[in-house]
Amino acid sequence: MNGFNPLVFSGVQPTGNLHLGNYLGAIRKFVALQDSYDCIYCVVDLHALTIAPDPVELMRATREVTAAFIAAGIDPKKNIVFNQSRVKQHAELAWVFNCVARMGWLSRMTQFKEKAGKDRENASAGLFVYPSLMAADILVYRATHVPVGDDQKQHLELTRDIAQKFNNDHSTRIADLGAGVEMMMGDEKVNGFFPLTEPLIEGPAPRVMSLRDGQKKMSKSDPSDLSRINLTDDADSISKKIRKAKTDPAPLPSELDGLKERPEAENLVGIYAALADTTKEKVIADFGGQQFSVFKPALADLAVEKLAPIAAEMRRISADPGYIDGVLREGGERAEIQAEATMKTVREIIGLLGD
Ligand code: TYM
Repeated sequence: MNGFNPLVFSGVQPTGNLHLGNYLGAIRKFVALQDSYDCIYCVVDLHALTIAPDPVELMRATREVTAAFIAAGIDPKKNIVFNQSRVKQHAELAWVFNCVARMGWLSRMTQFKEKAGKDRENASAGLFVYPSLMAADILVYRATHVPVGDDQKQHLELTRDIAQKFNNDHSTRIADLGAGVEMMMGDEKVNGFFPLTEPLIEGPAPRVMSLRDGQKKMSKSDPSDLSRINLTDDADSISKKIRKAKTDPAPLPSELDGLKERPEAENLVGIYAALADTTKEKVIADFGGQQFSVFKPALADLAVEKLAPIAAEMRRISADPGYIDGVLREGGERAEIQAEATMKTVREIIGLLGD
C-alpha cells in the first residue's frame, strides 16, 4: 500500500467460546494470508480486561485461542503469534491515541453502545477507549492489511481516522525527522508515518449469524449454545446444531436473489460456501430447489469434515501448555522488536524525551 511494506495484523479476544463466526470471519483468512504476506496474529488479552474476566479463565482462554490459531493452520514459526500484554508498546501507543481520538468519534462506536447497554455510566472507561487500543495494535506495526469480520469495520474506519489525524497533526515534524512514507491521503500525496490500513472483510461469510435467529450475529456471549458452533464442538454436536438450526419452510431458491428476506437460509448458504471455499452462487446452483432436509445433512457433513479435525488438533495442542507458552513468549520477543522501533520514532515525533 503506497510506500509501506505490506504487513498483515489481526487480533482475537480470549473471551471463551471461539465459534464458527470467528473461524470464517477471521481465523481462516489468517491461514490463507500467511502464504503471501508477513503476518502478525495476536491474542488481545488487554482488550478482554474491558469486561473484567476471571483471571484463571483469561489465562485458559488465551492459551485456547493460541491453540485454535495453530490448529487451524497458522505456522507460528513463519508468522508472529503472541499475546498482546507481553508487548508493552501496545498500551503505550494506545495512550497516545487516546489523546488523538475525539470523544465524538468514540461515542459513535456501535460496539461500545451494544456492549455498554443501557447502563453506560457503569461501563468501564476501558470499554470506551477500546478502539484506541485496537488502532494501536495495528499501527504499532504500521500494518497495512487487517483481516476481520464485518462487525469490526467501524473500528477499522476509526483506525484510519486516528492515523490520518496523527499524520496531519505532526506532518512538519514527520518531514523534519524524515520519518514519513509517501502515501495518498484523499487526492493528496503526503508523507505519513502511519498507513491508512485496509480491512480485508470480503468472502461469502463476513458476518455469520446465530443458528437460532438469522437477525442476530453468532456470538460468544449468546446464552444459547445451540446458536453457535464452537470450535471445540465434536462431530455429534456440530451435526445436531445444524439439524436444529432455524429455517423457513420453503425449499432453497434457484437464484441468489431468492435469499433476500430469508436470513436463516442465507446464513446457512453463506456458511456452506465459506466452508467449501466457493461462492453462494455455486451453492445455489447445486442445491436450488432442494428442501432443507437435503441441504442440512450436506452442510453438517461438510462442517464436520472441516471443523472436527481442528477441534481434535486444538485438544492435542492444549494438552501441552508449555508449548503454547513458548510460542507466545517467542512471538512476543519478535513482536516487541518491531513495536519498539515504531515507538522510538513516535516518541521523537510527539516530543517525549527518551534515549
Ligand atoms: P473478536 O474477538 O470479537 O472476534 C475475532 C474475529 O472474529 C470476527 N467475528 C466474526 N466474523 C464473522 N461472523 C461473526 N459472527 C463473527 N464474530 C466475530 C471478528 O470480526 C474478528 O475479526 N476488536 C476485535 C479484536 C481486536 C482486533 C485488533 C482485530 C483487537 N485488536 C486489531 C483486528 C485488529 C474483536 O473484538 O474481535
